[in-house]
Amino acid sequence: MTDSMSYDPSLGVAFVNGAYGPLAEAAVPITDRGFLRSDATYDVTHVWKGRFFRLDDHIERFQASMRGLRMSLPLSSSEMAEILTECVRRTGLRDAYVQMTCTRGVPPAGTRDPRLCQNRFYAFAQPFVWIANEEQRRDGLRMVVSSVQRIPPESLDPRIKNFHWLDLTLGILEAYDNDAIVAVLNDGKGNVTEGAGFNIFAVKDDVITTPDRGVFEGMTRRTVIELAGEAGVTCQVRPLPIEELRDADEIFITSSAGGIMPVTVLDGRIYGNGKPGSVTSRIHDLYWAAHKAGPLCTPVDYEAAQ
Ligand SMILES: Cc1ncc(COP(=O)(O)O)c(C=O)c1O
Repeated sequence: MTDSMSYDPSLGVAFVNGAYGPLAEAAVPITDRGFLRSDATYDVTHVWKGRFFRLDDHIERFQASMRGLRMSLPLSSSEMAEILTECVRRTGLRDAYVQMTCTRGVPPAGTRDPRLCQNRFYAFAQPFVWIANEEQRRDGLRMVVSSVQRIPPESLDPRIKNFHWLDLTLGILEAYDNDAIVAVLNDGKGNVTEGAGFNIFAVKDDVITTPDRGVFEGMTRRTVIELAGEAGVTCQVRPLPIEELRDADEIFITSSAGGIMPVTVLDGRIYGNGKPGSVTSRIHDLYWAAHKAGPLCTPVDYEAAQ
């Protein structure tokens, strides 16, 4: 055990088994089906400049994912919000990545019936995580259309946020093999879906398009759909053929881990002279402006008594 007096809480604080402690020491029993079978769901929200972004929406989505997997916890939405807030408060971080997880739990010895498990809740806050570094966000990311097919929605509803990341991880490795840092997976029918931790948008003639199915309905994607009018563009949510993506004026990806990120190279071809386009930049600015104040923000009271 780390001497808790010597632990720097700004490295991360976790909530496990009803207690707060250093993130580096937080552990899951190896017989938890969350670990053994990826039998878990989770959600990730973030704190920016001391304010949660869409906290209630993230908790609502988390609960919908739990229902989809027939999991339940003896915690109300406000109790979850309080635990997440307490994790952040204890770190003191103004910019944080905040995760809540529900695992199936540990089956009674000698059984494998998921119904017999008591579902477990884990949460943690740690320094903000970015999909891409500062230079990549400024100049745009290099992307490939992966040869890997995303797990089809007929097998697992991707709106349930899940740990089945091997297709996404193989996509990342394919990207690195091809001088890129992100990969968008195909749906086996000639359309793009999403990538590891992000949704995708194509921009063409002031219309932005994002895939309608086979994807996780990201909170950043939802925010972009809501902000489209303000950005002076029309948003279409429908199948996005790979060829249409290739033919786009601009491409961007969206994630809580970085917001709106321009893609300026797709399969080696340069878009917009290698600079983020004007629609992407407008949406980027509106997204971060929505973090400063307004209905989507929940300030963290860092001084509140525990
Ligand atoms: C597969 C997948 N798609 C999309 C996203 C983006 O979702 P959000 O905008 O809520 O971060 C994520 C986030 O982790 C994800 O895992």
